[in-house]
Amino acid sequence: MTVGPDTLTALLKGKDVLPAGWESVFGMVAREDFVPARIWPDDSDAPLDRDRDPEAWRRAVYSDRALVTQWDDGRHTGAAAGRLATSSASTPSTLAEMLYDLDAAPGMRVLEVGTGTGYSAGLLAARGCRVTSIEVDPQLARRARENLAAAGFGNFVEVVTGDGTLGHPAGSPYERIQVTAGVRRVPSAWVEQAAPGAVIVLPWGTDYGSGDCALRLVVDPDRRTASGPFTLATAFMKLRAHHPHWGRYGGAALPEDWAAYAHPTTTTLGYDDVVGGPFDPVALVLGLCVPDCLARPVLHGALGGTLWLYGADTGHGHSIAAAHFAVGEPPTIRQSGPRRLWDEVEATWYWWHSQGRPTIHDFGLTVRLADDDTVEQQPWYRTPDHPLVAPAHEWTPPPSG
Ligand SMILES: C[S@@+](CC[C@H](N)C(=O)[O-])C[C@H]1O[C@@H](n2cnc3c(N)ncnc32)[C@H](O)[C@@H]1O
Repeated sequence: MTVGPDTLTALLKGKDVLPAGWESVFGMVAREDFVPARIWPDDSDAPLDRDRDPEAWRRAVYSDRALVTQWDDGRHTGAAAGRLATSSASTPSTLAEMLYDLDAAPGMRVLEVGTGTGYSAGLLAARGCRVTSIEVDPQLARRARENLAAAGFGNFVEVVTGDGTLGHPAGSPYERIQVTAGVRRVPSAWVEQAAPGAVIVLPWGTDYGSGDCALRLVVDPDRRTASGPFTLATAFMKLRAHHPHWGRYGGAALPEDWAAYAHPTTTTLGYDDVVGGPFDPVALVLGLCVPDCLARPVLHGALGGTLWLYGADTGHGHSIAAAHFAVGEPPTIRQSGPRRLWDEVEATWYWWHSQGRPTIHDFGLTVRLADDDTVEQQPWYRTPDHPLVAPAHEWTPPPSG
């Protein structure tokens, strides 16, 4: 049997992730119309080439896998994988779950940020939405326009070349906004260009790790506030301006007085407790409660690992901590600078544990635009009226139920 859109639809149906009304949509949009001839499924080192192995390429296209289509913002060429994957056709089941959250109905005006191949814009168009999709990379935008036109959706999607964090005021107000690139700070433009009651679905994360969580924000009637829960643990390529800036840090950036000030202590926690897997809720919780802190885990094979923590400059210099875990030895913690980053991490972990290890679904975010259009992001626990504060400071349990 030849694999095709129906194969993928059946796969997604089997996983129970297809929202009502979307089964025919996934069947109508052929992913092969959007995927280029060379792809790296799931960031693999070896590419699949349509011309060399058409069957394997086609099987990958109609599988539930993310297909990398660009490395290093297009600077990388050749068959080998590059350093950082920067564009892809997103994992279909993740798209389906985010579309469930988006709840886009025919006729709605939808803004998409991160066009990529154009596949997800094609799905929204096939659903009957009026779509504006923004792609920062001019070459990718051009190709997506061509893909959408060839697949028959050219008249239903406007592909704009530009920075999606600025939105596209000409097409506003949008009833739905879908973002398919990882976000660290919600831009004011998305809230300002949303209609009252609009839904914004985006992969959001903190500097503590590279994972994201899908966030479903509902915009208030005043279009100055939006709030909602985290719904899905995932991992997306980040918006160009939201890549972590390791350059300033890295092991080379140890402060000169590190040895003198970093008196070693120990902990009862282990490496896995504070690093977590890519979809582990603890990474989100640590990131929410230990803000402005880049976490960089370095695994030393079977021998253990080190978790480096780098704090943003507070005006009194950088804070830095290293938690070193070696098999058969007590962990060693070193910290220096104005913040005790490890102490913040440890206090958060014990709080999370004392709460019965809540999942990402117990947390959410409220986004508020200030008069000067700066954006405040306030995380919450269980309900929006219960702001999450770092447990090292003051914390009172929320009402149960
Ligand atoms: C994961 S891909 C999108 C996948 C796409 N929706 C699909 O299914 O084919 C993320 C895309 O976001 C784009 N991107 C990154 N930063 C951006 C920005 N500031 N504005 C608009 N697009 C951006 C990248 O170039 C990349 O193509």
